[in-house]
Amino acid sequence: MGKSSKDKRDAYYRLAKEEGWRARSAYKLVQLDEEFNLFENVTRVVDLCAAPGSWSQVLSRVLIKGEKFGRAGWERKQEEMRRYVLGDENKENAREESEIAAQKQENKEPRKDVRIVAIDLQPMSPLEGVTTLRADITHPSTIPLLLRALDPSSTSASSSPTHSVDLVISDGAPDVTGLHDLDIYVQSQLLWAALNLALCVLKPGGKFVAKIFRGKDVDLLLAQLKIVFHRVRVAKPRSSRASSIEAFVVCEGFCPPEGFTASLDKPLGGSAGLGIEKKKEKTEPKRTVREDGAVEIELGSESDEEGQEDDIQDGGARWIAPFLACGDLSAFDSDATYHLPKDRVSLDPIQPPTAPPYKRALEMRKLAGGAYGKTKLHEHPDTT
Ligand SMILES: C[S@@+](CC[C@H](N)C(=O)[O-])C[C@H]1O[C@@H](n2cnc3c(N)ncnc32)[C@H](O)[C@@H]1O
Repeated sequence: MGKSSKDKRDAYYRLAKEEGWRARSAYKLVQLDEEFNLFENVTRVVDLCAAPGSWSQVLSRVLIKGEKFGRAGWERKQEEMRRYVLGDENKENAREESEIAAQKQENKEPRKDVRIVAIDLQPMSPLEGVTTLRADITHPSTIPLLLRALDPSSTSASSSPTHSVDLVISDGAPDVTGLHDLDIYVQSQLLWAALNLALCVLKPGGKFVAKIFRGKDVDLLLAQLKIVFHRVRVAKPRSSRASSIEAFVVCEGFCPPEGFTASLDKPLGGSAGLGIEKKKEKTEPKRTVREDGAVEIELGSESDEEGQEDDIQDGGARWIAPFLACGDLSAFDSDATYHLPKDRVSLDPIQPPTAPPYKRALEMRKLAGGAYGKTKLHEHPDTT
């Protein structure tokens, strides 16, 4: 597949290059923000599994440069559409107001005291206002690094949590093998690590957004998230292909249960569950014989004082997270193929991977004269 055929097949891939994003994933975060207003009152953010950095670009442009994407941009578009529908007599007003809105966009409003920390296994090219760390989010040694990056003035090397972060986002994905169950398992481990990091740094009321693969046990995970967040929803942005099992959990209102202490040494859900002892009340089955001779049996149950939330923990009642599609309907459909304008030239990616695992293979192929049997003997290292 050549560069321009990928441009046709994937409108977001093409758009990302045109609009200066390092990856098409930027649109997923922008569309999630359109639906959930993620960045409202947010100044401290941790971006996990961040390379090549398009999510960090969105954060940097919204929080540091004060640009308006996602919800803010969507609201403006809706307003313009509403005015257009109102008819001719209002068109002049609509034009004026849209000019004022555009002017406002020019007067960008950067936020104060913004701190963005991005972590990835891969090196990441620098971005304005973003502290980048090269680390493994599944490793306990990452937490002190993260805490120091969040608060560089702190001299302590401790890994005790400081709850100062408004939003943790994670787009973590393993190198997909094609073995579905294995990929889902590895991805869930990444999500697990991301959640445990989030629990160590989020402030009460904070938000957590992370990529999930909708495997068969995803309900359990969602139910566990519901214990520590007030609101948990699953969202599928329009820029995420319908054919992919990828979706995003959007958790709002971080509310750790009383007595819960976050720690990477004893992560949430280990053998100790949430680490909180709960009193169990067990009811035995009851058998009564009615006057008419019929026997009524009430089945026994094992429930806690707290009701539904504990049912979730025990795997009793199932809890189903609301599922939302997000992204403006006028946005590109990521599964459609579009015609390219005649005069369009194919663009190079904004930020090619810095050190991809296949780098050596690419170098060897290049030395051998390229792919598809075009090997030129005189260019081979052994023959020159
Ligand atoms: C889909 S990409 C993220 C794209 C990114 N959100 C963006 O917008 O540019 C997934 C990333 O997860 C990272 N990753 C996978 N396992 C990781 C781990 N254990 N620790 C840190 N990063 C990891 C990969 O290196 C890869 O860069």
